[in-house]
Amino acid sequence: MTARTSHRGTVVLGVSSSIAAYKAADLTSKLVQSGVDVHVVMTQNATNLVRPQTFRTLSQHPVITDLWSVPDWRPEHIALAELAQVLVIAPATANVLAKLANGIADDALTTFALAHEGPLIVAPAMNPRMWRNPAVRENCRRLQGRGVTIVAPESGRVACGTDTEPGRLADVSRIVSTTLAHLAGLSLRRDSTDRQKILVTAGPTREVIDPVRFISNKSSGKMGYACAEMALAAGHDVTLISGPAATAPPPGCRFIAIESAADMAVTVRREFPDCNLLIMCAAVGDYRPATPAQQKIKKTKGKLTLTLERTEDILAIVASLRKPTQKVVGFAAETVNVDANAVEKLHAKKLDMIVANDVSRQDAGFGTDENVVTLYLPDGTKHSLPRMLKIDVAAEILRHTLPL
Ligand code: CTP
Repeated sequence: MTARTSHRGTVVLGVSSSIAAYKAADLTSKLVQSGVDVHVVMTQNATNLVRPQTFRTLSQHPVITDLWSVPDWRPEHIALAELAQVLVIAPATANVLAKLANGIADDALTTFALAHEGPLIVAPAMNPRMWRNPAVRENCRRLQGRGVTIVAPESGRVACGTDTEPGRLADVSRIVSTTLAHLAGLSLRRDSTDRQKILVTAGPTREVIDPVRFISNKSSGKMGYACAEMALAAGHDVTLISGPAATAPPPGCRFIAIESAADMAVTVRREFPDCNLLIMCAAVGDYRPATPAQQKIKKTKGKLTLTLERTEDILAIVASLRKPTQKVVGFAAETVNVDANAVEKLHAKKLDMIVANDVSRQDAGFGTDENVVTLYLPDGTKHSLPRMLKIDVAAEILRHTLPL
């Protein structure tokens, strides 16, 4: 992730005693590089795994490990609670989850957690058998029910050797993007009566040629996933319809996986009537093989000609069906005449906004964490945004479309 020096806000990072505690050092470093002021609170047991000095150096702040070495007249957990905008606990052990679920405050971290009033993000890490345990599952459900964001552990090798089931701490980049989304989401948050249903599409589609081949495009899904993540952080209900993408869906969304443009069309048409805002970020294939081969096409000496037929323009169709209470945002991926092409699509598809990007740029766009976009509105207004993280582009999109 590119360094960013502007101040994004203040996060308290709670570190508990999973062996993944060493990854919290990387998390601290990446958050600091992204412009976040990080204050670390560790459980006593976590200090047996990573020395507080590591976090002190990376965060450039003292590390709190107990409630009794207080240099100030005010207890540190209360002073910090006034400062912290988001609390991230990564890694969170089964024990910490249980304490959070039950409001137990018997050390610096859990005491701080009770005093904290802003968003809480928890990234558990433990042995897969522990993660499967009904008590742990129930504690997670209870926390989610209270609005806590759980960045679920991934499958992969854990210290005790299992590598097929979830237990390993989520990738640090996922925890970073969820944290940045929640910080940006603070300014977009409204009370629960303003909760909107937001439908986001993302990723590429795949059009089958034969059982082993397909036509697709370079979309990584990152921009759409960032929109979904940002909408969740702003407190909305999010359904994400996605073509094959490398990233895990953001925690808390309703996720629907699709493959082809036809799947996408059916799914969007079904979900659209129930949403207040559609953000159509997916790179939908415009053409598909007219007659996909049932068996693998064998090579011959001559040329091979594929006959392609048009897929439907999903965005144009649903936009024409929308009620006055619904807003529709499209994207325009262009390589030339970005301005003119984007404005033409905005009007032709009758959109409330189009987000245009020049996909020929190497430094932003497909597969990267950053994007350079311009937002066009039907009244002729145009907002050219500087190069920024996709999560920040997502915040700008929501800022211009919400409240509805
Ligand atoms: N889109 C869609 N259905 C399609 C193709 C595109 O809903 N079959 C949507 C995309 O999700 C995007 C917008 O339409 O929000 C514009 O997509 P883009 O690929 O930039 O443009 P197209 O309309 O496909 O036109 P062209 O490829 O000719 O530029």
